Amino acid sequence: MKMIMAIIQTHKLEDVRTALHDVGVMGMTVTESKGFGRTKGHTEIYRGAEYQINYIPKFKIEVVCEENISEKVIETISETANTGKIGDGKIFMWDIDSAIRIRTGEKNEQAI
Ligand SMILES: Nc1ncnc2c1ncn2[C@@H]1O[C@H](COP(=O)(O)OP(=O)(O)OP(=O)(O)O)[C@@H](O)[C@H]1O
Ligand SMILES: [Mg+2]
Repeated sequence: MKMIMAIIQTHKLEDVRTALHDVGVMGMTVTESKGFGRTKGHTEIYRGAEYQINYIPKFKIEVVCEENISEKVIETISETANTGKIGDGKIFMWDIDSAIRIRTGEKNEQAI
């Protein structure tokens, strides 16, 4: 299993959700997030210390999926969330060791 975490523009959430459903994603977590990337954050020096300002609101989406669809999930998010303008966001992926569906006790691929 893979964890795919993506930061996307807020107005792209519904398109991404629909597209992910179409490729077989069964669940996802959505969180309001703020942050900055290479282009939009500004660093300010105040009393000798650096402060990050200008955090831009985005949605963070987290999807745990079977490994065999993970590349498709990344491709889908990448294409659907792309406007070609700065601030389109980023996608990260890492391995997941285990998953448990609390109601049934099912584990791993059966749980997601
Ligand atoms: N290295 C990173 N680690 C964690 N989160 C990041 C990182 N870079 C960007 N993010 C998250 O992604 C969001 C969007 O980043 P953004 O798309 O502006 O990246 P960028 O590097 O500035 O690219 P662009 O030039 O397309 O704007 C940020 O608000 C932040 O939440
Ligand atoms: Mg940026």
